[in-house]
Amino acid sequence: MINLVVGTQWGDEGKGKIVDLLGEEADFTVRFHGGNNAGHTVVIGEKKFPFHLIPSGILRSKTVGVIANGVIVDPKVLLDEINFLESQGFSLKNKLLISHRCHLIMPYHKALDEAYENARGKNKLGTTKRGIGPTYADKVSYNGIRFYELVNWKAFEEKFVFQAKIKNKILKLFKVAPINIKKSLETFKQYREKLLPYVTDTFKVLNQAVKEKKNILLEGAHGVMLDNDFSPYPFSTGSNVVTGAVNSGAGILASKIDNVWGVVKAYTSRVGGGPLPTEIFDKTADLIREKGGEYGTTTGRPRRIGWLDLEAVKFSVEVCGINKIALTKIDVLSGLKKLKVCLGYQINGKRIDYSRCGYLELSKLKPVYKEFDGWQEDISKVKKFEDLPKNCQKYIGFIEDFLKVKIKIISVSPERFGNIIKS
Ligand code: GDP
Ligand code: IMO
Ligand code: MG
Repeated sequence: MINLVVGTQWGDEGKGKIVDLLGEEADFTVRFHGGNNAGHTVVIGEKKFPFHLIPSGILRSKTVGVIANGVIVDPKVLLDEINFLESQGFSLKNKLLISHRCHLIMPYHKALDEAYENARGKNKLGTTKRGIGPTYADKVSYNGIRFYELVNWKAFEEKFVFQAKIKNKILKLFKVAPINIKKSLETFKQYREKLLPYVTDTFKVLNQAVKEKKNILLEGAHGVMLDNDFSPYPFSTGSNVVTGAVNSGAGILASKIDNVWGVVKAYTSRVGGGPLPTEIFDKTADLIREKGGEYGTTTGRPRRIGWLDLEAVKFSVEVCGINKIALTKIDVLSGLKKLKVCLGYQINGKRIDYSRCGYLELSKLKPVYKEFDGWQEDISKVKKFEDLPKNCQKYIGFIEDFLKVKIKIISVSPERFGNIIKS
C-alpha cells in the first residue's frame, strides 16, 4: 500500500496530523521535497511535536522515517530535531534514513535568502528565510553540495570553500557580513560525525520496499498553491508539491501510489506575501486565527485567513489526482453565524479558472461565494458524522459534492484521536 499526503491549499492544512494518523500502519514515512520551511505538527495528549525535516510518521513504533533525495537539509535543524525527539524518549537508532543525494542548506543560502528579501523591500515575498530558494537554485545550476560530499570530506572542503568565496562576494554587494569559512568548516565537520550514520542510498531501500509491497506513506510538504510551477510564481516555494514530485524526490513511481490524500482545511490560511483571493480582514478572521492557533509552526508569523476556496482546491484535486480527502479544522468554525465558500472566480463579470490566473489576476478577481448557516456546538469530541450538527453536515456534504471526492477523515481537534473516520 502506498499513500501520498498532499496539502491542497497554501500549506498548514494539518498534514502532520493526518500523516501521523495514516502512519499507524506504515513501514516507512517519506519526506520527498522541501526543507525546514515545512512545519508539521503532531499532538499526542499534552505533548506537541513540531516536525520540520523528520517525517511526522516517525512517532509510530514500526515506522522508519526516510528523508529522500528531493529534500534539502539544514544539518543544524535536523540535529536539533533528532535531539528533541530523543529527549522525549523516541530513539532514532535504525529509524531514520537520509539520502546521500540530499542537498545541504548552507549558511550562505540563509544569508542570501534574507538579503534578497530585504532588497525586495515592499515587494518582498515573505519567505521563511530558511535558505530554500537559494539552495534549490544552486541545486539546478550545479552549484549545490550534497550529503555525498559530506561523506567524502576532502571533496566537501574543496566545494564549500569555492562556493563560500563566491557567495561572500555576492553578500558583499548586498552589504551583508560574509560567512566565516574556517569556522563553518569546523561546524560541518561536527555535523558530519553525527549525521553520517543515518546516510544511505534511500532509493535502494524504497525500491525494495515497493517490490515487497510494504506500506509506504509519502509526506508532502507545503501546499499545491505554493508549487514552484503551479502557484502564481514567484509567490511560490522552491520545490514541486504535486504528485509527480514523488518520482524525482524519492524514486517512487507515481503510478504505484494507491491513494492520493488531499488535506483540505475547512477555511484558508496563508503565511507570507502573495495573493489570497478569499482573504478576510474583519473580526471573523481574528476569531478564526486565535481559535485555530493560526501562527506559523516554523516562523511564528500570524497566518492570513480566508474562506474556503473550492476553486483552488478543485485545481489541486485535478493536478494531483486526489482520490481521498482529509478535512481538517472544521471545529474551528463552530460559533460562526454565517460561513462562506468560494465556488469560482470572476474578473469584470467573466468567469476565470484558477489555472489561467497569474498573481496579477489572482490579486484583482472577485470570488463567487455561497453562504452557509453556521453551527454553535463544540464538535471537538464528536466521533460519528451523524452526531455533527446538521449545518455542519451540510457544509461538509457540499464540499464533498463539489469536489466529487470522498471525504474519508474529518479532523475535529489537534489531538491524535480527534477524528471522525468515514467508511
Ligand atoms: P501542516 O503544515 O499541514 O502539517 O500544518 P501545521 O502543523 O503547520 O498547522 C496545523 C495546525 O492545526 C497545528 O497546530 C495542528 O496541531 C492543528 N490542527 C490539525 N488538525 C486540527 C483540527 O482538526 N482541529 C484543530 N483545532 N487544530 C488542528
Ligand atoms: P508546511 O509544510 C506555509 C511559504 C512561505 C512563503 C513561500 C516561500 O508547514 O505546510 P520559502 O521559505 O519556501 O522560500 O517561502 O512559501 N511556505 C509555507 N507556508 N506552510 C509551509 O509548509 C510553507 N512552506 C513554504 O511562507 O510565503
Ligand atoms: Mg505547517
